[in-house]
Amino acid sequence: MDRIKKIMKVHYNTDITNIRSLKGGWASLAYQVSNNNNQFFLKVYEKSRSSTRQLTRSINNYVPIIEWLTHNSELKEKISVPLLADDGSYKCEDDYGIYLLYDYINGETIGNQELKDVQVYQLSGFISTLHSYGQEIPIDTSSIKENFEVPFLQFFSNILKRENNQIPIEIRESVSSCIPQLKDVINKVEKLAAYLKNSDLRMALCHTDLHNWNLMQTSKQLILVDWEGLKIAPVEADLMFFVNKPYFNTFLRRYQETHKNFKLNLDALHFYQGRRKLEDLGELLEQLLFDSLNEQGRVVTINYIKEELRTLNECFYEE
Ligand SMILES: Nc1ncnc2c1ncn2[C@@H]1O[C@H](COP(=O)(O)OP(=O)(O)O)[C@@H](O)[C@H]1O
Ligand SMILES: [Mg+2]
Repeated sequence: MDRIKKIMKVHYNTDITNIRSLKGGWASLAYQVSNNNNQFFLKVYEKSRSSTRQLTRSINNYVPIIEWLTHNSELKEKISVPLLADDGSYKCEDDYGIYLLYDYINGETIGNQELKDVQVYQLSGFISTLHSYGQEIPIDTSSIKENFEVPFLQFFSNILKRENNQIPIEIRESVSSCIPQLKDVINKVEKLAAYLKNSDLRMALCHTDLHNWNLMQTSKQLILVDWEGLKIAPVEADLMFFVNKPYFNTFLRRYQETHKNFKLNLDALHFYQGRRKLEDLGELLEQLLFDSLNEQGRVVTINYIKEELRTLNECFYEE
């Protein structure tokens, strides 16, 4: 806790009197930090975690873009943007972690709740607006452009070697029983990646992590948080999160008010669905192998891995 007070003092010139640990996301820790005048949300990526390097790599590239959106688009006040540190940067760090500071949003995370119709309509409006912008905006987007690379391929090929004895036996058994399905997904994603790289699909700004834990409802409006995945990509990178929802048609109707004649591109959709599956599975396996998890964390991670393996076959949407 002294560490957090020090970060707030040194980098944000703010004396903090209260620190409350919050339920963070999958990849970071979260704190409400406050004094008599202000409440902030502090997001902390621990350097000891294997996912941190990847997740924090493009902060300096994506934050100027969401900042530009808040000033120049209808997304003003509907997206959360990190506050600048005293030296003008969007993040700060010490030996332990990388820190991002935000205004605290007084609201409720949607999380496990269903979206109401009015929220679906609003969300579809946000995404339609976001997708109206692309590489033409006056901020450099080259570093967040989709490259269609598929992560974890080498890692999976090591895992698929049966002699790998770093993996707990029960996971090794689950993985071996799914090898054909896993290979199918990998092949399909690699083929689609090669094809999409050479196609000239329209690309737009995409959030790429649109689940309900990244949506908060305040007394005024819905807010979209967690912009670390911002990309210039085919819009299916976002729409993949909605195609299997019961409200997809409502979502699409609103989307098509802005993007007339829009039709889903199934190749792009399947690429994103398959790649996401491989990413989720890869990150979980990596966590199990390389992060120091406590017993409870291990059990939770193992159960997630089993669930990802069990549903390998179901990841591709059919119209
Ligand atoms: N500015 C904020 N104020 C209050 N709570 C927030 C804020 N931003 C995010 N949260 C809450 O913290 C959780 C984790 O934040 P998020 O940015 O999604 O981290 P992660 O990248 O680990 O998923 C969110 O699910 C949301 O409930
Ligand atoms: Mg999140």
